[in-house]
Amino acid sequence: MAQAPYMIELREVTHAYRTKAGPLPVLDNLSMKVAENSFCAVVGPSGCGKSTLTRLVSGLMKPDEGQVWLHSKLVTSPRPTVGMAFQNPVLLEWRTILQNILLPMEIVKSPMTKAEATERAHHLLELVGLTGFAEKRPSELSGGMRQRASLCRSIIHKPDVLILDEPFGALDAFTREDLWCTMHDLRREEPFTCLLITHDLRESVFLADQVLVMSGRPAHAQYVLDVDLPGPRTLDDLYSPKAVSMLATLRHQIQVAQGRASEADAPADDHSEPAEARA
Ligand SMILES: Nc1ncnc2c1ncn2[C@@H]1O[C@H](COP(=O)(O)OP(=O)(O)OP(=O)(O)O)[C@@H](O)[C@H]1O
Ligand SMILES: [Mg+2]
Repeated sequence: MAQAPYMIELREVTHAYRTKAGPLPVLDNLSMKVAENSFCAVVGPSGCGKSTLTRLVSGLMKPDEGQVWLHSKLVTSPRPTVGMAFQNPVLLEWRTILQNILLPMEIVKSPMTKAEATERAHHLLELVGLTGFAEKRPSELSGGMRQRASLCRSIIHKPDVLILDEPFGALDAFTREDLWCTMHDLRREEPFTCLLITHDLRESVFLADQVLVMSGRPAHAQYVLDVDLPGPRTLDDLYSPKAVSMLATLRHQIQVAQGRASEADAPADDHSEPAEARA
């Protein structure tokens, strides 16, 4: 049977950092697949290798062993078709918000003209609720507004894949929830494949189609949960029995990854399968 094309595919990826104290194994035989236009959240214990995973997917680093594929192409160098946003949006203070958002257009080859990109930037600003802020400087915006601008910048060049490494981690709970809804709005308007690293299990369930739990370091894919909540999702859905049960499953899996619980103590209502079954 023909296999569906995956936008992101990692095949048995193993990686160690070379440190003064010797090699530090971080990833061990990690395999995962993310379908085109779907949203995958990655959770796992602190220091298990989540940011390392983003560097491998974006091509900033090469794995010691195994392969990383993006859109059926083997990743061997940094990929311009990837957009990225991080916990601290690094916006250039000497540029306006509009000029910051247009920055990738100066780096990445794109069929868009400058006028088209500018029009797109204004449209994205409107979508994320920043109409009227195009000519402001980053310091004139709140943390949440800066993160919204950073999201616009990360997708201005229409990347195939958006990688978000704890983008909402530094925001207060209400601003964070607002931004979750903004993410849904952006994807409704313009589907893209997303890989989100987060420590927030509610965030993962609200945003993702699939949540991958990484084991402790050196990490493999320990568990994959399919989030079968119907769309369009609202924040209230997080309080539904189904979502609550999924959150319990994820919490348990994190405890297993931390070595604080065993698989055998899994909550009764199980939603998914060990990741090995998918690889
Ligand atoms: N450039 C590097 N050189 C050496 N060791 C590194 C390097 N980058 C990360 N590490 C180590 O690799 C391990 C995994 O780091 P990584 O940043 O991928 O974890 P993480 O899961 O993103 O952690 P967190 O949840 O705290 O963000 C950590 O022990 C870290 O100290
Ligand atoms: Mg990290």
